[in-house]
Amino acid sequence: MRKTLTLLAIVVAGTTPVMLNAASTAITEVRKSELTNLVVQDCGSCHGLTMRGGLGPALLPENLEGRNPLELAEAILDGAPGTPMPPWRPLLSEQEVHWIVELLQGGIPK
Ligand code: HEC
Repeated sequence: MRKTLTLLAIVVAGTTPVMLNAASTAITEVRKSELTNLVVQDCGSCHGLTMRGGLGPALLPENLEGRNPLELAEAILDGAPGTPMPPWRPLLSEQEVHWIVELLQGGIPK
């Protein structure tokens, strides 16, 4: 019982700051436009400037339809070891990557 409580305390202590953090760091419009540029320029250098694919696979809404956004976010955060897909965790927050997945699945506004 004691063990369960301790575990619960760790879980609660571990999640609360993250939730607070997520709420207090909404992505600003400026950051959204920076992220869109990053997707087109940096991701686009491998996935194609229009996301139609190149060295990396196409990332258009029709290609990503039905894909689990969490898995796509993980693919971006951790990259694909042994392939040219780099991990973006050092450069982007999880929240930013989730926003990018939404952007890709919805289509980049022209
Ligand atoms: C240096 C080249 C390169 C860059 C830069 C790059 N990627 Fe990739 N990416 C790849 C390759 C190659 C793969 C395929 C990996 C594999 O074979 O599993 C891939 C895979 C992916 C996947 C998984 C696709 C799927 O269908 O499962 C996603 C999502 C993705 N990239 C998004 C991004 C995003 C977003 C960026 C920019 C933040 C980015 N990539 C930048 C080369 C790149």
